[in-house]
Amino acid sequence: MKHFLEIDDLSKEEIIEVLELSELVPPPKVLSDATVGLIFEKPSLRTRNSSEAAVYQLGGLPISMVSGEVGIDRRESAEDVARTLASYHRFVGARVFAHSTLERMTKAIDVAGSETGVINLLSDFSHPCQALADLATIRNHFGLKPGLKVAYVGDTNNVTRSLAIGCLMLGLDVAVGSPEKYGFEEAERDRLQALGNVTFYSDPGEAVSGAQVVYTDVWTSMGQEEERQQRLRDFAGYTVDSDLMSKAGSDAVVMHCLPAHEDEEISREVLESTASVVWEQAQNRMHVMRGLFLFMSGVRPRS
Ligand code: CP
Ligand code: NVA
Repeated sequence: MKHFLEIDDLSKEEIIEVLELSELVPPPKVLSDATVGLIFEKPSLRTRNSSEAAVYQLGGLPISMVSGEVGIDRRESAEDVARTLASYHRFVGARVFAHSTLERMTKAIDVAGSETGVINLLSDFSHPCQALADLATIRNHFGLKPGLKVAYVGDTNNVTRSLAIGCLMLGLDVAVGSPEKYGFEEAERDRLQALGNVTFYSDPGEAVSGAQVVYTDVWTSMGQEEERQQRLRDFAGYTVDSDLMSKAGSDAVVMHCLPAHEDEEISREVLESTASVVWEQAQNRMHVMRGLFLFMSGVRPRS
């Protein structure tokens, strides 16, 4: 695998390998004397810090760039940005609005014959680095046991998509509870159903029934801010609160990729409860980034 744009760019076995490499202490310094370019078209706390820290821990130098200073497709084309960055960096990570920007960047790098790998740091379509951290967190709490139920409640978005694909690939059961108009489209439901046991609900209580993991994310993702007021109305009743948690399994954990909007998609009480593993999840972002860079550098567990 040269580029990592979606979680299924890795096979099931490779996902496990990345998770195992994430636990390698001390990690081999595979990025010594190497640089990694990280571009952010949107704000970031976790992704930027976890990526920069991981590069440093592997002996490399991260160089982060925020939106205005690069101006993808405004100051110069995504292709020209990609080819330029590839001439400096071992890897290029990018957080973009349009997923197609990542695809254009990888194509330009490949056509140029560069070895540089591109990593999706979140697009409108997917957030695979988050999914790796989510799987690491679930593995730590329950093991990746076939049939374990992961219920996602709220807006079906980039995070939902990567999480659902990753969980289904690993044999976990997935339930998605969303208002009808914010659910996955039929073609995508079919695609997910071909991967494993996934069920779609409009009633959040039914979605979380008996689940070991209850997961939520913001109702208004970055780039959708103009829809916020409408979304607040449409998602009423989908808050992950104590009442909803009482319908999940008695050992259920609560996950959220963060940032959280208190008393919108999750109550502060649940976020701070003993069921909440969100801070561990956030820290796992750094560990899995190390695992991913190691894997993409050719390191394998026990090699
Ligand atoms: N979860 C996540 O990607 O957080 P940031 O947007 O802060 O990077
Ligand atoms: N769905 C959210 C995730 C933030 C990490 C967004 O795209 O804004």
